[in-house]
Amino acid sequence: MSIDTLAGLVRTIPDFPKPGIQFRDVTTLLADGAGLAELVERMGTIARPLDPDLIVGIEARGFILGAALALTLGKGFVPVRKAGKLPGKTVGIDYVLEYGTDRLELHEGQVPSGARILLVDDLIATGGTALAAAQLLREQGASVLMALFAIDLPDLGGMAALEADGVAAQAIIA
Ligand code: PRP
Ligand code: HPA
Repeated sequence: MSIDTLAGLVRTIPDFPKPGIQFRDVTTLLADGAGLAELVERMGTIARPLDPDLIVGIEARGFILGAALALTLGKGFVPVRKAGKLPGKTVGIDYVLEYGTDRLELHEGQVPSGARILLVDDLIATGGTALAAAQLLREQGASVLMALFAIDLPDLGGMAALEADGVAAQAIIA
């Protein structure tokens, strides 16, 4: 499947969640069996040579692609969740949004010191979420080999922000 066909499976919904936002909806791609296989194969081709110890996925759509990649690579999967969702003892990081702050959490001990991590999410916009997740992983003594996304919104500068912070980043669809 060509990259244009794959990209065409992503639906754009105007004015969601706010007027003026063109929301890139990955669920239409996920619902297409051939498209999902193509996306995961392309992500796997990038990730496999890195031979990560663990795949870490960001809530919520990063769980879907992160779990698929973990199975493809034969690696374990660890979720980074929004505050208050994980039942065990957590470590977390607060990060700044356009209005206010948010918090990401990880189960304590699930990312060992020295672990080599592939970070996965469906989409990068400003990069704030992925930057916070990468910082949280580094605070555990892990290294982030790469942050890998299905979709980049290049106008919002997230990939550049990650690279500026020393996190290698790639996306399949821009
Ligand atoms: C979206 C997307 C990324 C993040 C990207 O998640 O899945 O996680 O926003 O934005 P950023 O690069 O500007 O940080 P969302 O906040 O909609 O959460 P959800 O997946 O739980 O719905
Ligand atoms: N789609 C999905 N998630 C997002 C988007 C988008 O366009 N922008 C910020 N997070």
